[in-house]
Amino acid sequence: MQPDETVTILDLTFTPLFSEQKVQARVRELGTALTDRFAGQKPLFISILSGAFVFASDLIRSFKGDCEVGFVKLSSYKGTQSTGSIQTVMGLEKEIAGRHLIVVEDIVDTGRTLHYFLNLLEQQRPASICAVTFLRKPEAAAFPVQVDFVGFDIEDKFVVGYGLDYEGWGRNLPGVYQLSAG
Ligand code: XMP
Ligand code: MG
Repeated sequence: MQPDETVTILDLTFTPLFSEQKVQARVRELGTALTDRFAGQKPLFISILSGAFVFASDLIRSFKGDCEVGFVKLSSYKGTQSTGSIQTVMGLEKEIAGRHLIVVEDIVDTGRTLHYFLNLLEQQRPASICAVTFLRKPEAAAFPVQVDFVGFDIEDKFVVGYGLDYEGWGRNLPGVYQLSAG
C-alpha cells in the first residue's frame, strides 16, 4: 500500500517519505549486496536496538548464507533531539574476536552512536567490521564515521516508521514518514 496519508503521532504530524514497497525493494538489494560480500564468511550481524530491529529482521532474511545475530541497546535520543550522550543499556553476549561483524543501524544522524559503537567493537579485535544503516542524514554528520552500506540518504528531518519512533510510537509503520514543516 502506498503511504499516501499523513499520520499523527501524539502532537506531531508526519507525511509519507518512502512506501513499504520502496523500503522492501531497497532492503532486498542490501541483502543481496551483503550476501555477495560475505560469501562463506559466516558473519555476525549486530543489530542496534531498538530502532534497527525491523530493518535487521528483514535484512537477515534477505541474506543468503550462514550467519548469527546479536543485539545491543544504545540510546542517545530523547523525543526528536539527540541528547549528546550515549548510554549502553544492554550489552552484547557474543564473542566477537575474529568474527566478521555486520553492524546494523536504523539511522545515522550526527554519527555519534555509530562512531562510539564501532570504536568499542574495534577494541575487541574482530576480523572485520561492516556498518550498514537503513537511513543516513548527511547534512547532520558531525562525527565522521565510515558507513559501508546505506539504504537511503535523507534530508535532516525527523522520521518515523520501519522501526523508528517518536516517543515510542510509530515503529510498526511499514513505510517511512517525515515530520511535517510547521
Ligand atoms: P546519532 O546522532 O548518534 O543518532 O547518529 C543516531 C540515533 O539517533 C536516533 N535518531 C532518530 N530516531 N527518527 C528517529 O526515530 C530520527 O529522525 C532519528 N534521527 C536519529 C536513532 O535511534 C539512531 O540510532
Ligand atoms: Mg529512537
